[in-house]
Amino acid sequence: MAGSESYNDGVVRQFAVMTVVWGIVGMLVGVIIAAQLMWPALNFDVPWLSFGRLRPLHTNAVIFAFGGCALMATSLYVVQRTCHVRLFAGPLASFVFWGWQLIILLAAITLPLGLTQGKEYAELIWPIDLLIAVVWVAYGIVFFGTIAIRRVKHIYVANWFYGAFIITVALLHIVNSLAMPVDALLSYPIYAGVVDGMVQWWYGHNAVGFFLTAGFLGMMYYFVPKQAGRPIYSYRLSVVHFWALISIYMWAGPHHLHYTTLPDWAQSLGMVFSVLLLAPSWGGMINGIMTLSGAWHKLRTDPILKFMIVSLSFYGMSTFEGPMMSVKTVNALSHYTDWTIGHVHSGALGWVAMISMGCLYNLIPRVFGREQMYSEKLIDLHFWVSTIGVVLYIASMWIAGVMQGLMWRAVNDDGTLTYSFIESLEATYPYYAVRLLGGLVFLVGTLIMAYNVWKTIAEGEKNAMTPVIEPA
Ligand code: HEM
Ligand code: HEM
Repeated sequence: MAGSESYNDGVVRQFAVMTVVWGIVGMLVGVIIAAQLMWPALNFDVPWLSFGRLRPLHTNAVIFAFGGCALMATSLYVVQRTCHVRLFAGPLASFVFWGWQLIILLAAITLPLGLTQGKEYAELIWPIDLLIAVVWVAYGIVFFGTIAIRRVKHIYVANWFYGAFIITVALLHIVNSLAMPVDALLSYPIYAGVVDGMVQWWYGHNAVGFFLTAGFLGMMYYFVPKQAGRPIYSYRLSVVHFWALISIYMWAGPHHLHYTTLPDWAQSLGMVFSVLLLAPSWGGMINGIMTLSGAWHKLRTDPILKFMIVSLSFYGMSTFEGPMMSVKTVNALSHYTDWTIGHVHSGALGWVAMISMGCLYNLIPRVFGREQMYSEKLIDLHFWVSTIGVVLYIASMWIAGVMQGLMWRAVNDDGTLTYSFIESLEATYPYYAVRLLGGLVFLVGTLIMAYNVWKTIAEGEKNAMTPVIEPA
């Protein structure tokens, strides 16, 4: 009977700790490549330290290791609490944890060795791709199995978002990774030419939409109301938000292929669906932020809520910017420039990293049986440090990006280019310095978090209550 049974939080604890560990590793590599863009000599002429190899190591580490562990920790925590039941297939959940860590380790070895399929965010070689598919299906079985044995009729909206994220990522990964192996390390995709490009960016954009967005919205729908101590602002809006978001995202991929050999109609279709995406994205942001209505004063004193609300503001900002950048004429300026990098990190640092950190501060004391985090002051310090870091990062990249776009297109009366590429690069250096500083500051914030988490686990005041499953 429910009441004396406890949740399976072992795997949640493991994933939560590894989120912090991989966050530090991934961001450290980010700082190194940001430094390399200023001082290329920092690759020390060692091939596996070159920018081209460390860059995918950074993206894989932050998205799939840091982001993936955060999503798995929170989804496996939330699904038990909202279904009032212990996790389905406990040993399989452990397999998911160890399998995912093995995949990360293999990525950390193969990418610096230069072993890659060359598709952005899908670089890993085919044997690792197979392992990802197996682990992901196991994750799906644990998550949906828990939903299937739930003790309440209702499926809380956070689980819809997590569920959509799990199903869609499986679909994206399997379809985009279809390839013909040549030997143990090399394979060729089954698609060719522009079809390959389209499948890749259907995958790439939906990786943003479902890995970097839908799953984190699942976090928002559970942890923001919990931390605010209030119900979600509008349940009806969350239903509209869910269906609108998942049905529009699928079609927006071609905005990554403007002015390519992709048929023009497909580019325009991608543009229109991207502009439409503004509506559900902002609907979700408003639903999250307005959950605080009537309790705004809590923002003054609760640093965890600050993390959550500021991350939602960055979500709103990046999902305003994205639709704008998908308009072909704007993309003609922004594409290839650091504006894209600014957009990416306003979503990745501002939204993804900050909502994860806020949710982990809520979750960690609970799964480790502690009264609260070791130091609230350190959470507040982390909040300010990371906010300043993000702002330095994205503001410098925005300015650099627009400047680059304008310099590249400037022409003299006789039709020759006004600036050489090197001149635009020289003009970018000061902004690269500011970005490096911003990234470094953000990394320091993550180290502060790691210290706080460590102290909470090692010395935190114990909470005598074992979390038992609440009766439905
Ligand atoms: C300390 C924090 C970070 C620093 C210093 C940093 C730095 C960088 C740098 C220098 C690049 C390469 C830019 C270029 O090629 O011109 C990059 C790319 C990227 N980073 Fe980060 N990063 C950080 C955190 C993150 C996080 C937390 C995420 C995701 C959750 C992320 C996601 C990405 C992605 C997706 C790209 C590829 C962008 C593209 O291809 O357009 N980064 N990062
Ligand atoms: C309504 C939502 C959004 C739309 C319509 C959108 C649109 C765009 C556009 C037009 C680009 C530039 C494509 C190019 O010129 O190559 C882009 C790049 C990117 N966006 Fe967004 N964006 C949205 C939200 C987000 C969010 C929330 C994140 C992160 C959490 C994000 C992550 C990225 C990444 C990683 C890239 C770089 C892809 C690459 O070239 O490697 N986007 N987005």
